[in-house]
Amino acid sequence: MKHTDIKVLFESGKDYVQTDVTVCGWVRTWRDSKSISFIELNDGTSLNNLQLIIEKDKLAESEVKPALVVGCALKAEGTFIPSDRNGFEISVKNIQVLGGCPSDYPLQKKHHTLEFLRTIPHLRPRTKFFEAVFAVRNALSFAIHRYFNKNGYKYVHTPIITGSDCEGAGEMFRVTTHGWKTDCKTESEYYADDFFGVKAGLTVSGQLEGECAAMALGKIYTFGPTFRAEHSNTTRHVAEFWQIEPEVCFCDLDDIIGIAEDFIKSIIKDVMSACPDELAYFDERIEKGLLEKLNFVVASEFGKITYTEAVKVLKKSGKEFKYPVEWGCDLQTEHERYLTEEYFKKPVFVTDYPADIKAFYMKQNSDNKTVAATDLLVPGIGEIIGCSEREADFEKLKSAMVKRNLPLEAYSEYLDTRKYGSVPHSGFGLGFERMLMYITGVQNIRDTLLYPRTVGNL
Ligand code: 4AD
Ligand code: MG
Repeated sequence: MKHTDIKVLFESGKDYVQTDVTVCGWVRTWRDSKSISFIELNDGTSLNNLQLIIEKDKLAESEVKPALVVGCALKAEGTFIPSDRNGFEISVKNIQVLGGCPSDYPLQKKHHTLEFLRTIPHLRPRTKFFEAVFAVRNALSFAIHRYFNKNGYKYVHTPIITGSDCEGAGEMFRVTTHGWKTDCKTESEYYADDFFGVKAGLTVSGQLEGECAAMALGKIYTFGPTFRAEHSNTTRHVAEFWQIEPEVCFCDLDDIIGIAEDFIKSIIKDVMSACPDELAYFDERIEKGLLEKLNFVVASEFGKITYTEAVKVLKKSGKEFKYPVEWGCDLQTEHERYLTEEYFKKPVFVTDYPADIKAFYMKQNSDNKTVAATDLLVPGIGEIIGCSEREADFEKLKSAMVKRNLPLEAYSEYLDTRKYGSVPHSGFGLGFERMLMYITGVQNIRDTLLYPRTVGNL
């Protein structure tokens, strides 16, 4: 269908002035006066609507009336003209309804609550808020690929169906073709005649397979969906989220921290230049001071503190935490947020966590108590990155697995990487939706995904 994108018309307006153009889109709002009707048309290419001006004496009422309907799809042809108020408008000569929209269309008002919009995920992308979210989501994805591409990383696609639980937290969704009617005496009997002949699940992380690829390609990253059957009903957890996981050989914890900081700053800068309208909108409507925050983040040096020091800071804070802090405890969101929001007032890497609260694959420090791991915490959210140097020593890795009762046979290929030419290497996982929350100021992770998956909600 021959037409011009509204974004192109706004960006190269001068080239189109006084020419005839055709646009397509959906009616966001309309108004009527005695002699003129106005339609705000949006086609999804630009956050800004294009105003259609319809002079009633130029078109038949039977042509105009069906177009004055919120939500209906239109094709309009007319002269493109400059406008003081809107930059540009179209003085319409022909208008055609492509798809009508009855009055039960739920998006009649200009503003709806995000809670209400969550009940209509199939329609909510048609609001300005979600149009902006998905534009930033797109720009952020692109910025991530650009960063790694520019720095010589290879993008690898790790499997979504897997037999190994990377984080060892037992939060895997099961993948099976078995019907409900199975009466087996043991687990292995149950899986023996299943599709794969063994227990399979959806990946919680592409890291273990990513490490195998890095051992050949040197520097890789994954960017794909990951799944966690966590029952955490918070504003920061979903069951299906996207994760970016670089894995770098010949790289220790300090090196990977440097990479993570450079990466975060670079993708923020890219999104700021790709989505100025969207970020200005979020700054005005969702998080006052968002742009100032992002400018500060790209210009400042991130904080860094060891877990042991962080525990001291938390104990000395004089704060009444719901979960008391002792060395060895896992940091809760309230602790993470105190550190990053009140103590550092900027993103901070907390390093060298107790081995007992972290995953088996992390490099064991010489104190025999902590591991060379770090979480990046940011104000407003808490953890956005989980990162570590990996244990490169075969025996030490094996003993960490045994200690956690992991089935060694399931991890034999992973162990081979420590047997055949093992090297110091490190990597991290960035939660894509959490990063999106940080860049846009969106408060609930459910509002960063087209169809958020959470416990009890498919
Ligand atoms: O800290 P996590 O569990 O680390 C890993 O999975 C490592 N294998 C990563 C690596 O080293 N390659 O998860 C990484 C990040 C978290 O920091 C968080 O941002 C995000 O993934 N994340 C979630 N995001 C949304 N919903 C959930 N349920 C999430 N769980 C983790
Ligand atoms: Mg983590």
